Amino acid sequence: MDHEPQPNSLDAFWMPFTANRHFKASPRLFASADRMYYTTTDGRRVMDGVSAMWCCNAGHNRPRIVEAIRRQVGEMDYAPAFQFSHPKAFELANRLVALMPGGLKHVFYTNSGSESVETALKMAVAYHRVRGDGGRVRLIGREKGYHGVNFGGMSVGGMVANRKMFGSLVAGIDHLRHTHGDPRNAFSRGEPPYGADLADDLERLVQLHDASTIAAVIVEPVQGSAGVIVPPQGYLKRLREICDRHGILLIFDEVITGFGRLGTPFASQYFGVEPDLLTTAKGITNGVIPMGAVFAQAKIYDAFMQGPPNAIEFFHGYTYSGNPIACAAALATLDTYEEDGLLTRAASLAKYWEDALHAIKGLPNVIDIRNIGLMGAVELAPAGGAPGKRGFDAFLKLYEAGLLCRTTGDTIAFAPPLIAGHADIDFLAGTTAKVLKTLD
Ligand SMILES: Cc1ncc(COP(=O)(O)O)c(C=O)c1O
Repeated sequence: MDHEPQPNSLDAFWMPFTANRHFKASPRLFASADRMYYTTTDGRRVMDGVSAMWCCNAGHNRPRIVEAIRRQVGEMDYAPAFQFSHPKAFELANRLVALMPGGLKHVFYTNSGSESVETALKMAVAYHRVRGDGGRVRLIGREKGYHGVNFGGMSVGGMVANRKMFGSLVAGIDHLRHTHGDPRNAFSRGEPPYGADLADDLERLVQLHDASTIAAVIVEPVQGSAGVIVPPQGYLKRLREICDRHGILLIFDEVITGFGRLGTPFASQYFGVEPDLLTTAKGITNGVIPMGAVFAQAKIYDAFMQGPPNAIEFFHGYTYSGNPIACAAALATLDTYEEDGLLTRAASLAKYWEDALHAIKGLPNVIDIRNIGLMGAVELAPAGGAPGKRGFDAFLKLYEAGLLCRTTGDTIAFAPPLIAGHADIDFLAGTTAKVLKTLD
């Protein structure tokens, strides 16, 4: 038997969320990235139409971030995260909470969106317990929600393919109905007009389980991974009101919408709805180094700060919570966002973006177009008997045509870096239109 390493073999790496056999037969490999563009290993330029994975909000190869990481790794590579820390972790937390209006004044560090979600769910359940209301253990998610892939996030999530292989999931979880697909909302620009009353589904779950058993509701303000599902006008406000009426915490999962995607630092500000806990990751370091953060209202943090002062208040954390290199990258990312005005720039691009995307209406198989801030999606009718095939074909052809997108089923999603200019948007929409004309 030959045990020699196989040079250039693609076999050993089991790729995440990837059609491994298809990929390994015709790989797509990037070699470098700068600003709006990737260069592939065979020397082609590909425009980044989705901030890589909704994370490189300032584009690629930003000098401040690159330099901050270089400097930090030479100064201090790692500091223990439990019972010790380092100044940048505190400096970053102060900078982060300064971006938040209202009471979200405390930050807990994680290393990913999935870990942020697990952390927020555990905080919610433990919060009720520390204030003597320990019967509130039930968690409510939403159909089509994506909250990462760990057991809690998967269980409150509502994407069937992500759930069906993994047994009975976490017990005590229920789901609100999703808000996608009302034909009256097709081709809405921004928030669709119909469906605020879908928030009343929470009242149904309260009737079923009793509010005294429910700890929290978690939703993405805009559902990203399910294909940019924009909340109906008034929906999130109504959800907030119902949560308040019943003492249920509201968690916004802003792993995608955080850090400027909608033209405000967070979607919470865009919609004028303040959650009790808010999860982030991705854009916090411009996607460059793994990091996430959960923002908590002062009332939640304060509720934990009881008992003997030498006792640990919350038995939770990660070896890499507040890792110095991640903190340095995040601080430099915030500097970059500030210098370039990126946390609000999407507001000035949103109309141009909306018009460019909606110009695709009328092309073959296009059944919906959705947009908000600098994110959007084109939904295609599934090919007969082969759901997802048309979306995947579009993805491959767009890549060949020099444009990176993401697809979910037959929906093509875009979220270009917030540095995009009008010419970039024209290229993105024009290339998409050209490709859609060639699809079966
Ligand atoms: C809303 C939301 N939550 C959680 C996650 C999971 O993040 P990660 O892949 O960093 O674990 C994602 C990833 O796309 C997301 O969009």
